[in-house]
Amino acid sequence: MGAYADAYRMSLTDPSAFWRAASRDIEWYRPPVTVLDDSAPPFYRWFPDGVLNTCFNAVDRHVRAGRGEQAAIEYDSPVTDSRRTLTYRELQDQTARFAGVLRHLGVDRGDRVVIYLPMVPEAVVAMLACARLGAVHSVVFGGFAPRELAARIDHARPKVLVTASCGIEVKRVIEYLPIVEQALALATHAPHSVVLLQRPQAPATPRAGRDVDWHDALGEAEPVDCVPVAATDPLYILYTSGTTARPKGVVRDNGGHAVALRWSMRHVYDTHQGETMWTASDIGWVVGHSYIVYGPLLAGCTSVLYEGKPVGTPDAGAFWRVASEHRVKTMFTAPTAFRAIRRDDPTGAHLDRYDLSELRYLFLAGERLDPDTYTWARDRLGIPVVDHWWQTETGWPVAANPMGLEPHPPRPGSATVPMPGYDVRVVDDDGQPAREGQIVIKLPLPPGTLPTLWQDDERYLASYLTAHPGHYLTGDGGYVDDDGYLFVMGRTDDVINVAGHRLSTGAIEQVVAAHPAVAECAVIGVADQLKGQVPRALVVLKAGAEPNGLDADLKALVRERIGGIAALSRVDVVAALPKTRSGKVLRKTMRGLADGVDEPVPATIEDPAVLDALRAILRS
Ligand code: COA
Ligand code: AMP
Repeated sequence: MGAYADAYRMSLTDPSAFWRAASRDIEWYRPPVTVLDDSAPPFYRWFPDGVLNTCFNAVDRHVRAGRGEQAAIEYDSPVTDSRRTLTYRELQDQTARFAGVLRHLGVDRGDRVVIYLPMVPEAVVAMLACARLGAVHSVVFGGFAPRELAARIDHARPKVLVTASCGIEVKRVIEYLPIVEQALALATHAPHSVVLLQRPQAPATPRAGRDVDWHDALGEAEPVDCVPVAATDPLYILYTSGTTARPKGVVRDNGGHAVALRWSMRHVYDTHQGETMWTASDIGWVVGHSYIVYGPLLAGCTSVLYEGKPVGTPDAGAFWRVASEHRVKTMFTAPTAFRAIRRDDPTGAHLDRYDLSELRYLFLAGERLDPDTYTWARDRLGIPVVDHWWQTETGWPVAANPMGLEPHPPRPGSATVPMPGYDVRVVDDDGQPAREGQIVIKLPLPPGTLPTLWQDDERYLASYLTAHPGHYLTGDGGYVDDDGYLFVMGRTDDVINVAGHRLSTGAIEQVVAAHPAVAECAVIGVADQLKGQVPRALVVLKAGAEPNGLDADLKALVRERIGGIAALSRVDVVAALPKTRSGKVLRKTMRGLADGVDEPVPATIEDPAVLDALRAILRS
C-alpha cells in the first residue's frame, strides 16, 4: 500500500495512535495521556488532558529555537504602497505586549475579544495575543455591515473590540469607526473598551473613556507570557453562514487545532520550516485563520499577508509580483481570484514579467473549482494546481491531494481523496449509501474540527448531527468515482458561495422581506462567470404596493444591512412563488431553472402553473 492509503487506514482503524504520533510535533506543557475522549457521543474531545499554548507553538517556540530573525510575516500592501517584515522575534515582542494591553483592559483566559480589522499585521498580532492569554478571539470580516457585526458582538459578548480607523478597497477608503459605532449602538452586549489602530489614510476621532490607541497602549504595555490552557479550551469562534439568518459560531479548540494544522502543513501542503506560504484570502474567513495565521506559523514558515486584490491593485499581474518578490513556494487562494485574473489577462501575459521559479504549488478552495479555471491555471503556471475541499466547520481540508504524503494524479473537478481522520460517505436522503448524494462524515470528526457551536450544543446537534445519526452533515452534495476520487458539486442547502464568500440566502431574504412593499420573497444563488454564484431575489408585492424604485431600494438595503459582498444581482417582481403543498418554497427548482439545468419538479408542488409562469423570467 502507498503512504496515503497506510495513513488513511490507520487514522480510521486506530485514530488514537495516528493522532498521538501527530501530536508529538506540538510542544505541550503537559502532553496528552488520552488522545480521544469518546465517552459522550456524539460529542467528542481530542487530547482532553493535554495542556499547551497555541501562541507559544506559533511564535515563541521558533524564537527559542534560534529562528527569531526569520521573517514570520511579510506584509505586502499595494493599496497603501507599503511593505513590512515582522521577524519571529518582533512578532513575539508585539504579541506579548499586545497581550499586556488586553490584560490591562480586563481580558483573561476564556474571555472573548472581537477583532474587526483589515489585512494588516496588527490583525495577526491581535489574534495571537488572545491565544497567548487563553482568551477567545472572534474575527469579523471587514466587509460585513454594522448589523452583522452587532449580531456577532451580541452572541460572543466580548470584553474588548479591536479595530482600525479604516480599511482600503480598490476604489475607496472605508472608514471603520462609523461602522463600529453603529454596531455598538445596535448591540445589547457592547464591550467596554475599543482598541483603535489609526491608519494615515483616514484617521478617526477616538471616543474618550472607551477607545484606546493601539500604538500608545502597546508602547506602555508590559509583555505577558503564554498562559497554559487545556487542549479543549476554545481558541476562537468564527461565525459562518448557515441556512437561517442567524450566523453559526463555530468553535475551534486549542489542542486538536494545533495538531491538525501542523499535520496538514507537512502532508497536504508539503510546506516546511523556513519556506514561504502565501494565502491570498482574508483573516475574516477560515482560510485566513488556518493558512495565513496559524498553519504557517505553527510550522515555522514565513506567511505573506497581502492587503490587495487579484486585479486592480494595480493589475492582473499582482499575484505574480507578490509570489515572485516574496519567493513564495506555496500559494493558496479561491478559484474566483483566478477567474478575475483570467478575465483581465486571458493569455497570462503578465506572467512573463516575473520569476516564479520558487513557486511549487497552487492550492485552491472556498468554492467549486470549475475544470476550465483549473486547466487555465495549470497550463499557465506549469505547477500542480490542487483543488481541495473544506469548510469553516472543519478548519482544515476534508479532501485534498496530499502533496507531502503521496501526490495523486489530479482529476479536474475533483478535490481528490479524503484526508486522514475523515471517514467520508455519500448517502441518499434516507442515509443509505448512494452513488451521488449528500456528503456526510462518519463520527468522530478528526482533531481541529468543530467540537460544537458557541454556547449552543442544541443547534450543533440540530444543524449537523441529526439528519444522519452518527454522521456529520457537510451540507455539500457530490459523488465518489470508482477510484475513490471525491467530486463536490455544490451545497444541498440554502448556503451560497459568492466570490469565495459564504452567505446565507435566508439572511438576505430576511432583509428583503423587511421592505414595506414586500409580501413574500425568495433569494436564490445563481451561477456567475466571475463569482461562482450571485444572489438573485424574486419578490411578491403586497396588494396595492408599487414596484417603482423597488429594485434600487432592495439592492441598497442588502448592502446596508449585510454588506457589499452580498449585493443582489437582480430583483424580479413575480405574481407568486412556487411552493410544495406544505408551503416550502421551491428554491432548488428555481435555481436549477435559472442556471439552465434540467431540474426535476417535485411531485409535491402545490400549483405547477406558478412555476410555469416563472420559467421565462428565471431563464432570462
Ligand atoms: N471590506 C469592506 N468592503 C469589502 C471588503 C472588505 N474587506 N471586501 C469586499 N468588500 C466590498 C467591495 O469593495 C465591493 O464593494 P462595491 O460593490 O461597493 O464595489 C463589494 O464588497 C463586493 O466585493 P467582492 O465580492 O470582493 O467583489 P469585487 O467585484 O469587488 O471583486 C474579486 C471580485 C473576484 C476580484 C474578489 O471578490 C476577490 O478578490 N475574491 C477573492 C476571494 C477570496 O479571497 N475569498 C476568500 C475565501 S478563500
Ligand atoms: P467556508 O465555510 O466559507 O469555507 O465555505 C465552505 C463551503 O465552500 C463548502 O461547504 C463548499 O460548499 C464550498 N467549498 C469549499 N471548497 C470547495 C471545493 N474545493 N470544491 C467545492 N466546494 C467547495
